[in-house]
Amino acid sequence: MKYISSKIILILLGFSVVSCSSSLSEPDDPGGTNPPDNPNPDINYTEIQPYPQRSGDPNKGYEYLINGDYMNTGIPYEAFLLGYGEDETNVLQREGDNSVIPHDFTAINAENGARVVAMNCLQCHSSSINGEFKIGLGNYAFDFTINRADQVQLASTAISYLYGTDSKEWEAFEPFKKSLEILGPRTITETRGVNPADKTTFILTAYRDKNTLEQLDNPAIAIPDEVIPSDVPAWWLLKKKNALFFHGIGRKDYARAMITMVLATIKDVDKAIEVDQKFKDILAYIKTIEPPKYPFDINSSLASQGEEVFLKKCTGCHGTYGNNPTYPNKLIALNTIGTDPALSNFYSDNTPQANYFKDWFNTGWFGQGENSLEVIADGGYIAPPLDGIWATAPYFHNGSVPTIEDVLNSKNRPKYWSRTYISTDYNTEKVGWNYQRVNSKIDSNTYDTTLKGYGNQGHSFGDSLTDGERTALLEYLKTL
Ligand code: HEC
Ligand code: HEC
Repeated sequence: MKYISSKIILILLGFSVVSCSSSLSEPDDPGGTNPPDNPNPDINYTEIQPYPQRSGDPNKGYEYLINGDYMNTGIPYEAFLLGYGEDETNVLQREGDNSVIPHDFTAINAENGARVVAMNCLQCHSSSINGEFKIGLGNYAFDFTINRADQVQLASTAISYLYGTDSKEWEAFEPFKKSLEILGPRTITETRGVNPADKTTFILTAYRDKNTLEQLDNPAIAIPDEVIPSDVPAWWLLKKKNALFFHGIGRKDYARAMITMVLATIKDVDKAIEVDQKFKDILAYIKTIEPPKYPFDINSSLASQGEEVFLKKCTGCHGTYGNNPTYPNKLIALNTIGTDPALSNFYSDNTPQANYFKDWFNTGWFGQGENSLEVIADGGYIAPPLDGIWATAPYFHNGSVPTIEDVLNSKNRPKYWSRTYISTDYNTEKVGWNYQRVNSKIDSNTYDTTLKGYGNQGHSFGDSLTDGERTALLEYLKTL
């Protein structure tokens, strides 16, 4: 590595490559337990059946998740430390090189032997709530409003200077640079805190051969301009679910499905086969994650009144909790749920893009062999399990509603709102984030529900509750 001038250190300091820091006529009793033949014609849903999953070793899975080389390109290690400084928190209590870098990055050896720092799954799948770090809590604060390709540009200037473009560090960095140049400009969201992972996955498939998984010079299909945002589902819910993703399109083998994000850095199918074997362990680990307990006081007599309301109005879709819990695994049709349709429509509309996407997964490497993935887009959204629901604000598949009180009172939801993204800025009455109503979009911290994919409509099942019933229900939801 060359002598480093202070100017270069400043340039490096500027790169935080990926900043670390989801026609309703209202039925009377919508949530009542539906007998299997669904006598209530106003509720349209399909019940998703379970599919046998591969078993694995949760300890190995955890180890691979936080130290593994499933992502195998990134920023040369010394350059990374110069850019970020040493991270002293070491929340994961990792050892060696990883002990001084943030939890959402992992130091690994690239294929050519260069030591690089790669992103890991915790970029999007970990967060803090009320000051407590929690693996599996979706990252509600990630800022995707920035074009990450601009940042990688700065980094590449610094890295080419430090190591030279004929170095193995540069060779190990280049695929990462290329990936962000493809993804960065096309995955910019309108507000901080929502996630472009669906769009990212589409772009990755457009740029990869479905069989060899090798990168293509040009996309095989036109990539739409719009970025439909989503929230990040909590990992502790996965053990109850019979389909992956808010729209339930991920069917059959879950471990295979989890490889899609790895496509951002993978060289070819050989690496995918290696990762596929180990992801069954990550899946086993994810299944061990329990929801965080509500850390404030709960009024238990009010909560038990709330439970009565829940059993009448909500159980049919969201299941039962406590001893012997049940969960019905229902995919609720758009005309029943009424929440923003854009994310679901992207896959179920008969467009060349939706057809390409389904064909790519279902007839390529992902869809083949014993442990195959199947993408099925029936339309609609999964009625999620509500375990730990207090901790996963904002709500709905697109994170458009800041508190559960607003979920349960559709007329009162804020059209434009902002928050601090601070994990202790929590509202125990409304159950969710403290927020400010504003009159229009001010900056990237404003959630603007008038934008396509960002709508906060639908799910009006709480509207007919009395204020007293709603307060009791909120108290009960804190216990889940
Ligand atoms: C860029 C952010 C990002 C990264 C990185 C990421 N994910 Fe995700 N993940 C998401 C989002 C967003 C969703 C929900 C997408 C949807 O439902 O439309 C998701 C969904 C999932 C789900 C389905 C959960 C459910 O209940 O349906 C699993 C499992 C998962 N991710 C595992 C992983 C693993 C393992 C990695 C690392 C290899 C990873 N993710 C990396 C953003 C990310
Ligand atoms: C007809 C089925 C149905 C009924 C009845 C129903 N829900 Fe839901 N609920 C859903 C679906 C589907 C979603 C996901 C919507 C989306 O993300 O767009 C959801 C989302 C939610 C969420 C947000 C979950 C999250 O993680 O973002 C909460 C909270 C919730 N429901 C609570 C309730 C309560 C409390 C009741 C009873 C008053 C209720 N629901 C009745 C189907 C239903």
